[in-house]
Amino acid sequence: MLSFTRLPRAPPLAETNPVCYRLCMTSLIYVLNGPNLNLLGTREPEIYGAGTLDDLETLCAETAEGLGLAIEFRQTNLEGELITWVQEARQKAAAIVINPAGYSHTSIALMDALLSVELPVIEVHISNVHTREKFRHHSYVSRAAQGVICGLGFAGYRLALIALSDILEEDQ
Ligand code: DQA
Repeated sequence: MLSFTRLPRAPPLAETNPVCYRLCMTSLIYVLNGPNLNLLGTREPEIYGAGTLDDLETLCAETAEGLGLAIEFRQTNLEGELITWVQEARQKAAAIVINPAGYSHTSIALMDALLSVELPVIEVHISNVHTREKFRHHSYVSRAAQGVICGLGFAGYRLALIALSDILEEDQ
């Protein structure tokens, strides 16, 4: 009688090879939000509007779906966590949308992380940082960003996803 030994199934190539992952899978965009953006809706609504972080996530998810993209939407108040997520995106994502919030103006470490991932990065600010206090006019993160959108409210995230969809299509 013949007997067969069942060999363990090899994981699909797309799960082990980041290059194949990017080509084979629906492009995944990390949408990362920095400190205090969990307070959207109650935080200085005259500057940031009345919409909440959940509203923002819904807008991003609906936009991504319409573009045939997938998103991983996250918010943290911790600089190190934001940096860990940027590093994680290198393996798992095709691009990054980031609103680094206050860390835009202070974090060389976050800029270094974004420079190291070799992914398209778009920096978004809900408010127009250039019409506000002088310390908001400079962003370290902008050095690592392919594009920067500010002052258009939540729509800036929508426009960032549309731009990334075009960039990723051109790259293929
Ligand atoms: C912000 C602008 C930053 O200057 C500020 O620290 C934020 C939010 C924006 O989305 O407009 O927290 O990134």
